Amino acid sequence: MTLLVTGGAGFIGSNFVLDWLADPATANETVVNLDALTYAGNLRNLASLQGHPKHVFVHGDITERALVDRLLAEHRPRAVVHFAAESHVDRSIHGPGAFMKTNIDGTFTLLEAARGFWSTLDGDAKAAFRFHHVSTDEVYGSLQPGAPAFTETHPYEPNSPYSASKAASDHLVRAWHHTYGLPVVTTNCSNNYGPWHFPEKLIPLMIVNALAGKPLPVYGDGQQIRDWLYVKDHTSAIRAVLARGRLGETYNIGGWNEQANIDIVRRICALLDELKPDAAGSYARLITFVADRPGHDRRYAIDARKIERELGWRPAETFETGIRKTVEWYLANGDWVREVQSGGYRDWLATNYAARAASAA
Ligand code: NAD
Ligand code: DAU
Repeated sequence: MTLLVTGGAGFIGSNFVLDWLADPATANETVVNLDALTYAGNLRNLASLQGHPKHVFVHGDITERALVDRLLAEHRPRAVVHFAAESHVDRSIHGPGAFMKTNIDGTFTLLEAARGFWSTLDGDAKAAFRFHHVSTDEVYGSLQPGAPAFTETHPYEPNSPYSASKAASDHLVRAWHHTYGLPVVTTNCSNNYGPWHFPEKLIPLMIVNALAGKPLPVYGDGQQIRDWLYVKDHTSAIRAVLARGRLGETYNIGGWNEQANIDIVRRICALLDELKPDAAGSYARLITFVADRPGHDRRYAIDARKIERELGWRPAETFETGIRKTVEWYLANGDWVREVQSGGYRDWLATNYAARAASAA
């Protein structure tokens, strides 16, 4: 048995691959991991799998149809688990083109290749095949304060180039099921955090900036709300949906943990004050309000009752346990942090933050 995973060298994908091969229930199943190794992909995330007989890494792009066809024909996976994407909202504002190419064209290419492969199967293999599309709560747009959390039937109202490209990919997946019968499942998850999170996103950026004594840039008034989920809970939810999700269905995944950005940043500062006190004083002194993100969604919240009701999944971590593990991980993995802070990373910080500081709120 084999899985084809896309984007398995990124943040969530690498956690998924590591968890899959660590679990005795799935460790016998080969994972073919197709990843283009963009700035966000990092083989160091997978260093513990070096030489692992069940991990086949393929450096390549999901938009290359011939490559995807070849991998499907050679490895004959029972499922495709599709993580690969451009994933950072701020980058999508500065340069949306890559998001359209990978998130839309890439998903289209995978669907067509999967459809071709699936049509050659018969019997049990055809019935068992799955295309699992990993998507986001951002496709639903922004919630007013007090409005009910996103259910799976909430209208799609994406507001950023990133979320629009993910919404487009969700629609493609839906259409390939309804038109061609491709056996798909889609999951829409809230904000993840945990090990191997690239430090362009809020939580790891705040941890690494604080440790470097740099400003902690909070966009706008810091009152935007996200629903945070520890990444290992996301990977366990994907496993549940892959194993038992109903075909053609979407499942929302969330942590039942809505928090304002400023509270997240203050919590990180408090944990660092406890775990690595700074002689200069609390890390909270570094909090700096900067110009807001254009089109910034105010609130996301996930209603995760469907996946609990149908598949019995609930998050194992609370925010308190998850954020402590995460801060501890960054404290213990300074080498990984230093390596990802390459020239390209520094260029991104200059692109995203230089102009914001000038117009701080
Ligand atoms: P990430 O940016 O950390 O990793 C993306 C991975 O995809 C990288 O390894 C990158 O090299 C690879 N990739 C990018 N373009 C590619 C291409 N054209 N061909 C092959 N590989 C390519 O992203 P992430 O945070 O791990 O997110 C994974 C998926 O989960 C995405 O689809 C994202 O939309 C979704 N998601 C993320 C979150 C979150 O909080 N991070 C929440 C919900 C859903
Ligand atoms: O909701 C799921 C989504 O969560 C995923 O689909 C995306 O791939 C993932 O990147 C994430 O998107 P967000 O835009 O919510 O995450 P980010 O970490 O970039 O920002 C979280 C919040 O923090 C958001 O309101 C913007 C704010 N922020 C972010 C950065 C990087 C700041 O205030 N300062 C910052 O420097």
